[in-house]
Amino acid sequence: MRIGGSVALVTGANRGLGRVFARELVSRGAARVYGAARDPDAVTEPGVTPVALDITDADRVAQVAQQCADVSLLVNNAGVLNISTFISAPSLDAARAEMEVNYFGTLSMCRAFAPVLAANGGGAIVNMLSVTSFYTNLIDASYGASKAAEWSLTNGVRLELHRQGTLVVAVHASFIDTDMAALTNAPKDSPESVARQALDAVEAGQVEVLADERTRTIKHSCHAIRS
Ligand SMILES: NC(=O)c1ccc[n+]([C@@H]2O[C@H](COP(=O)([O-])OP(=O)(O)OC[C@H]3O[C@@H](n4cnc5c(N)ncnc54)[C@H](OP(=O)(O)O)[C@@H]3O)[C@@H](O)[C@H]2O)c1
Repeated sequence: MRIGGSVALVTGANRGLGRVFARELVSRGAARVYGAARDPDAVTEPGVTPVALDITDADRVAQVAQQCADVSLLVNNAGVLNISTFISAPSLDAARAEMEVNYFGTLSMCRAFAPVLAANGGGAIVNMLSVTSFYTNLIDASYGASKAAEWSLTNGVRLELHRQGTLVVAVHASFIDTDMAALTNAPKDSPESVARQALDAVEAGQVEVLADERTRTIKHSCHAIRS
């Protein structure tokens, strides 16, 4: 699909990768870019229309889908990482919170916007996933589980929306230079590089982006990985 002239909505558009997605959409000529965030006052990117949205609030998700009925490109970027292990974490709270945002929040957005996209010619959904969708890091294992679930939903939504002509793009990346990866000194991709690759995939009709060398290597060799 062409991004020039499209109407896009980006979740988590107030900072990090979401902010860069919104900026890149404006620079590619999107007719309107809705920047959704829990605090809409924090959406300050020029040319972006702020929208109040917590993706775990199902009523609000439904209202936003009604309010933004012109959307043809949905970028499910919002996500949370709580650095939590499976066994030694003190409770299930961190893991549940990650599932609530990364899996159920994204699923809720896909369900609410599917009819909107259909009414606008099919359009596209971009789901922001991770190398941990197919690889378990011990330190943030529960985040990986939520991203694996989000990857699975991405594959299922693609099948379910195929007949209405909606392109569903899975974007997997290793570390990206945002607040989320601030704790590590490992090499990081720029958010600009990830956003550009994702939007190039939308324009090319491509269903998967492996945004960096580490992600490509792990995806292609994950059958051989032992943790
Ligand atoms: N950074 C990395 O290394 C990396 C690597 C691979 C994939 N990713 C994925 O890339 C996406 C963007 O992450 P980032 O690096 O930009 O992280 P970030 O800097 O921590 O930003 C996360 C964004 O998600 C929003 N968010 C969290 N919970 C939300 C909710 N319930 N409703 C609405 N918005 C919510 C945050 O809003 P608030 O400001 O209100 O908290 C913020 O805008 C995420 O899906 C993440 O999992 C990141």
